[in-house]
Amino acid sequence: MPKIFIVYYSNTGNTGKMAESIEKGAREEGVDVIRKQIKKNPDKETINELIKHLEEADGIIIGSPTYYGSMVSYIKKLIDDSFRCHGELVGKVGAAFTSSAFIAGGNETTILDIIHAMLVHGMIIQGDSDTDHYGPAAIDEPNEHCLKTCERLGRRVAQLTRKLFT
Ligand SMILES: Cc1cc2nc3c(=O)[nH]c(=O)nc-3n(C[C@H](O)[C@H](O)[C@H](O)COP(=O)(O)O)c2cc1C
Repeated sequence: MPKIFIVYYSNTGNTGKMAESIEKGAREEGVDVIRKQIKKNPDKETINELIKHLEEADGIIIGSPTYYGSMVSYIKKLIDDSFRCHGELVGKVGAAFTSSAFIAGGNETTILDIIHAMLVHGMIIQGDSDTDHYGPAAIDEPNEHCLKTCERLGRRVAQLTRKLFT
């Protein structure tokens, strides 16, 4: 069964609620899902464990609140440390999501920064022609519409992952 790994940071819970809905959508498609929240200043052991999940997953979904128009440093640390598994993520499905305070507060740049790193890893990213094109973005606490968009992302990543890995 294909495996999806959702990893995110959330300080006040907004990005966390999005992650839960993404997991719900992915599970509806009958894939295995592991969801992990990065804590502040993750230690070496935590990063090692997360990198193992990156290696074992077929689809990887990364979420971060928007901090100064980009991802939070703890997510960037995971991405920088993922150099250790460089080459092993090639061909896996990737996606990203964020929560920001403002509509034009840098949410798309945050998502794209994460996606850029995924592309450097050789991952496959599917856009969405119907709704949040780069990935779901909440304005503070995700509303019903946003949570539906998150479920949709989970379903679509799971569907593509199933197509590629079963
Ligand atoms: C250090 C810091 C930087 C932030 N930078 C931005 C920003 O550039 N643009 C924006 O719209 N919101 C910004 N915010 C607001 C958060 O993105 C927003 O509150 C988000 O919903 C928090 O997500 P969380 O509840 O998952 O922690 C910032 C918040 C903090 C604490």
